[in-house]
Formats: sequence, C-alpha cells, structure tokens
Amino acid sequence: MQVSTTDAQVTEIEADALVVGVDSEGMLAKEASDVDQAADGLLKRLVENEEVSGKLGDVTMLHSPPGIRAALVVVVGTGESDRFGCGEAFRAAAAAAKRLAEKKRGRVAFCLGDGWTERQVESGVCGAIAGCSGQDLYRAEKTCHPFDEILWDDAYQTVLQSGQILGEAVNLTRQLVNEPPSRIYPESFAAEAAKFAEEYGIGIEVWDQQRLEEENCGALLAVARGSARPPRLVILTYSGGADDDPTLAFVGKGVTFDSGGLSIKPTDGMKTMKCDMAGAATVLGAMQAVARLELPINVIGLAGLVENMVGGDSYKLGDVLTARSGKTIEVLNTDAEGRLVLADALDVAVGRGADRIIDLATLTGACMVALGSDVAGLMSNDDAWCGTVRAAADACGEPAWQLPMFTEYSEQIRSKVADIKNIGDGRWGGAITAAKFLEEFVKDKPWVHIDIAGPSFLDEAKPWLDAGGTGAFVRTLVEVARGWEQENG
Ligand code: BES
Ligand code: MN
Ligand code: ZN
Repeated sequence: MQVSTTDAQVTEIEADALVVGVDSEGMLAKEASDVDQAADGLLKRLVENEEVSGKLGDVTMLHSPPGIRAALVVVVGTGESDRFGCGEAFRAAAAAAKRLAEKKRGRVAFCLGDGWTERQVESGVCGAIAGCSGQDLYRAEKTCHPFDEILWDDAYQTVLQSGQILGEAVNLTRQLVNEPPSRIYPESFAAEAAKFAEEYGIGIEVWDQQRLEEENCGALLAVARGSARPPRLVILTYSGGADDDPTLAFVGKGVTFDSGGLSIKPTDGMKTMKCDMAGAATVLGAMQAVARLELPINVIGLAGLVENMVGGDSYKLGDVLTARSGKTIEVLNTDAEGRLVLADALDVAVGRGADRIIDLATLTGACMVALGSDVAGLMSNDDAWCGTVRAAADACGEPAWQLPMFTEYSEQIRSKVADIKNIGDGRWGGAITAAKFLEEFVKDKPWVHIDIAGPSFLDEAKPWLDAGGTGAFVRTLVEVARGWEQENG
C-alpha cells in the first residue's frame, strides 16, 4: 500500500473517498468544516439533526456532496475531545477504513489530523491500514478490500512512514493468527520469521528438534510429543545499539494449535485455538517494526513453537519433565501447555543476556474471567518495569491491568513429587498461578508477563476491526522499545 501526503485543499483532493472528523460535542474538525462550507452547511445540519453523533468510531457516508471533488465523504466520530489520544486516533481511522473497505477503493484520503500530535497521526495511519484488512483470506468474495493508496492530508512523510510500518506490523501479526493451523505450524511459522528477518537485517537462529534436545528443552519438547509436526524455537536478534548496550527481550507463546492434549478441550473451547500462537506472532510483528524503524537499541525476540496434540507419544498426566533450567515439573494437566513452552523459551532469553523481559501469551481462560476479553493481564516481578509497560500500553490505548503476584500464590504450584506442578490447586486465580509458574524461569530479571488470551482474538468483528487476530500489543511493544531508546540509548 502506498501512503503519502497532500497539501491540496480538502475540497479539491482527488480520491475515491474523503474521511473527515467530528467530535461528540458536534464540533467539526478543521477539514470537516472546510467540507461543510463547500457543501453549503450539510455537515452542520446533519449534526444538528442528530444524524451524525460524533461518538468515537461512528461512521456516516455522504454520497456526492456538492462542492467536493471526491464522490464520497465519510464523517467519522472522534469521541470526547478531552479523552482523545492515540488509541482513539487508531480507532476512528480504523472504523472509517473498515466501513470503506466493504467495497474496492483505490485512493482514500484521511483529512482528520488537524490539531493531532505526530503520534496521533501515526496511530491514525496504523488504524487505517489495520481497519481495511480482514480475516477473509480464503473467501472468493472478499468482505474486506485493502485500499491501494492512502492519502493523509498535511502530514510529515516520516510520520506517515512510521504509521505504515506499525500498521503493517499489526497486520503481519493478525495474518499469522488468522491463517489456519494446517498452514501455520512450528516449521512454517519459523519460515515466515526467516523471510522477514533476512529482508530487514535481523539475525535469526531456528532450533529444530535435535538442537532442542541438545539444549535440554525438556518442557517445550514434552508438549510437542503428541504432534506429527516437530517443534521449533526461533531466536531473532536485532542489534541496533552498541555491543555493550543492554538487551530487551520479547518472548512469545507459539502454540500453533492447542487441542489441550490428553486433557482434551471440548469443541467449543478448541475451535479458535489456532490463535494460541498470538504471543509469538506479536513478537514477530514487533521485531519487524523495531527493525524497520531502525531503533538504535538491542532487542531479541523468541518464539516457542509447538502444536499441542493427542498422539501415541503424547505427554501424560503424572509425567515429570526436566526443564532447560534444571527445574522438574509435574504435569497434572496437558492443557496448561503454554507455561511449559515459555519455561524453556524464557530460560533461553535469560541465557542470551536479556536484561529485561516481556513475554506475551494467550495463557489462560482465567485471565478473561478476571478482566473480560478486551483487557490484557499484566503480571510482574518488578513493579517499576511493569509500570513502564503499563504506561506504554496506556499511551497506545491498549487496555491492560496489573494483577497481584503475592508470594502466597506460589504455594499452589508446589508439587509433592517434583519442584513445581503445571497447574494451581483449583480454578481460582488461574491467571496468576500461571504467571507464578513462569516467574520460576526468569532468574530475577525484571520481567512482565502479558496474558493476551482475551484481546489477541475477536470472535465477532468490532466496528473498527474485523474478527480474528487483532495484533494487540504490537504497538505497545514498539512503544516500550522507543522508551528503551530514551532510557538506555
Ligand atoms: N490456550 C489456552 C488459554 C486460552 C483460553 C487462550 C481461551 C485463549 C482463549 C491455554 O493453553 C489453556 O488451555 N489454559 C487452561 C489452563 C488450565 C488447564 C490450568 C485454561 O485456561 O483453562
Ligand atoms: Mn491449553
Ligand atoms: Zn494454550
């Protein structure tokens, strides 16, 4: 997709559609006001007659308004002006884009940004790119048609470029999640990673079955045993900083399909479990963006890739595994597999010199019980680092909420036969007992675990985004990386 700017008068812009904004007080933004004047007060009348509410993401289509060169004007609500931020910019642009993408459009001009900060424009571009692409990868009749070209009026090309990089990173993550599990499995996921790593000068190592055995990744390997598809561990290395600069690590859960294993899931719980590699896909998206933005920092990205299946050699309840770190784990539920995969991936991250770690995982249904499906759970061993991640998420408008990590929770994962067991004593606090398990493998490095079981996947479309993978937390990771540059660069 081409993204460029124009300094033409809004009324003169040559495009298939123009997008302008109005807030929830009915205030027309500058460009909307220009359209209104050329169209003889049409927009003001619509606001007065309450046909246009200005509610965030509300979309009204106006065909052939007089005095405007473009044949279609889309009025999008930007919501309450004092609550407007990057998240709202993303959502408003995405909602307009999603509606427009119902048909094929060549060039769409977004004339929204007057008075927006550069970061808000960047988020808007990102939202426009995400909003016009959908999950209908394998439908002959598409319901979502990405635009050929986006124009953003009166913006810096560098801001548009970073917005495009972010939007394409979000879409990369979404597409990896949306691909069916017959196409995305550990090997093919690793191949996708290798493709863009080469393109953007990121170092890549892929550990296959044999290497994983040599490295004693006993926890990850156990999960993979029921599957005909062999596991992989992908290690991406982006070195934009000096050799002795600190290293930031992103670690993702990449269960390309989670049947539950012998603790098998019912159909309803299994039908969306292609999404269980969203953590790993988020790491890939973020690494791609960090590299394309050429941030002057050092980041490693790890993806632990397995398929959790039922087979003659599946790992069993009662099995005792030895993780790479040497800790022994009693398996009491094969559906609590993500923490086993992450145990070894986190240990590798620490071994590779990570100074601070963020892991992302569709880890627990319990996190959705706690926070609902739109909010990610944050769990950490370091409140300051967690605060940094939370602030980045807030700045991007990606909802996240910290859950407590009192030491008492750890008692629940003590085992009578091994060092720890892979589930808590009951259902309660399941998101936290899972995080307590992960904490055992980070060796006191500042670490934040983001449980994205809810926000990474939509069962139903939102007005601003198609159903399926969402790319949630790609933007937050990039925001953390940008802050890292300021703190450590
Ligand atoms: N991948 C699931 C968690 C999940 C559930 C993600 C719903 C997205 C939507 C995870 O591997 C899992 O099965 N967790 C179990 C843990 C339990 C067995 C302790 C769960 O949440 O039920
Ligand atoms: Mn599971
Ligand atoms: Zn899982």
